[in-house]
Amino acid sequence: MATTWDRARLEGLIGAELSNRKFIAVSNREPYIHRFTEDGIACFRPASGMSTAIDPIMMASGGTWIAHGAGDADAEVVDQNDSLQVPPDSPRYRLRRVWLTKEEEEGYYYGLSNRALWPLCHVTFTRPHFDEADWQTYRRVNERFADAVIREADGEPAVVFIQDYHFCLLPRLLKERGGDLKILQFFHIPWPNHEMFRPFPWKEELLDGLLGNDLLGFHIRYHCQNFLTTVDRFLEARIDHEHSEITRQGQSTMVRPFPISIDAEAHARMADSDDVTARMEKWRKRLRLGNRLLGLGIERLDYTKGIPERLRGYEKFLTEHPEWHGKTVFLQIAVPSRSHLTEYQRIEEEVDLAIERINWKFRQPHWQPVVLIKEHQSQPEMMALHRLAHYMTVSSLHDGMNLVAKEFVMSRSDNAGVLILSRFTGAYRELEQAVGINPFASHEVAQAIAFALTMSPDDQALRMSRMREHVLQNNVYRWGGKFLSTLLRISDRFEP
Ligand code: F6P
Repeated sequence: MATTWDRARLEGLIGAELSNRKFIAVSNREPYIHRFTEDGIACFRPASGMSTAIDPIMMASGGTWIAHGAGDADAEVVDQNDSLQVPPDSPRYRLRRVWLTKEEEEGYYYGLSNRALWPLCHVTFTRPHFDEADWQTYRRVNERFADAVIREADGEPAVVFIQDYHFCLLPRLLKERGGDLKILQFFHIPWPNHEMFRPFPWKEELLDGLLGNDLLGFHIRYHCQNFLTTVDRFLEARIDHEHSEITRQGQSTMVRPFPISIDAEAHARMADSDDVTARMEKWRKRLRLGNRLLGLGIERLDYTKGIPERLRGYEKFLTEHPEWHGKTVFLQIAVPSRSHLTEYQRIEEEVDLAIERINWKFRQPHWQPVVLIKEHQSQPEMMALHRLAHYMTVSSLHDGMNLVAKEFVMSRSDNAGVLILSRFTGAYRELEQAVGINPFASHEVAQAIAFALTMSPDDQALRMSRMREHVLQNNVYRWGGKFLSTLLRISDRFEP
């Protein structure tokens, strides 16, 4: 059995090998957001798989996390360096906020990141939108984050751990500015094949930007291979396919798969708490569940998540299985996201219409087949729902990993419950005991629901216990540990 990774082991690695360097993480989304509420300023955790995964790594490293300060009360709680210690109730690391103007947010975040790169990389048949002005703003914002990193490093050696597609130009910008920086980046979303990437108008600059990294990680090997082939097609560079390494102008970038995960033990501990058990009762009443079996979906309201597709599958299931009418309820938690963009307004409308149609078609005096809640839920609330659910559906049309699937599994210490999981997620490659679906095929979704609702407790336990074991072994500390050990290995090679 593989040796277990935990926070102490990761702290040990960082302490032993990286104590002579600052540890700086960079992301767009911040891990803690401050907002004005009726009761004063409150601190929230965002609905972000990225932030769920990086927070424990930062707790272990104790460095600085640089991110966009997007909360309306964010500026009220920082010091003169735009920083504060987090988590607020037991500080372990520093959060440094970068302020963006509305125009910068529009062009860099909504425009280039989420109307161009997001649909381009996910390949879910939503057209990407390319705008020259957005690209210029994206460049400018990447430069502003480069300034923030350089200020933070302050001439000292540092490891800079960049997150995601918002910062494709940042690695090169940092390399150009010099200093003893080891740069690594993780892409939390898929990388498409080169044919899909072809329409991106600023290919060379974007790819060259990413090749400023010493180490570039994707969730799965397939995305690494796609990246290598894309560079091969569109850039002058030497590609060593065997070692998954790209050399351009004398600098090498290692490209490796690192399947991301969660803090599995901590998650399981919180899910088993009395607090969560109490919340289950509250939900049971709110949903008027009685003896009905609960189906569950929780995600951001995003067109990549396949929410209308899953609803079509549920509708087909109800059409074909009248014996289940009144005996099961589907709860969809859809957290509003990027609602400023038309594509997201459309998906919201599509979800609303589908739910209205299903409820109209099948509802009975004391039974509503689908309940929709468009509100972010805290971790304990989500855990309560995981524990209450008979099955959970993750039907992403394409997803780098999908941590919701791993969270559901780690909430189930009772070894009960069924995970219905899209074959087009990174998670499906690891959670082999899930019930696999092609979310585009409503008959498959319908069959999976029928299968889940009638699965024997023994079968549930066998599948769930194996998936839990896998996530426990392959937790986020292992992810961070492997990422950093790989950087250390290749750094040795580069040192004189
Ligand atoms: O995991 C991909 C990702 O874009 C993260 O970077 C991000 O935090 C999450 O999805 C949610 O998106 P956003 O930060 O745009 O709300």
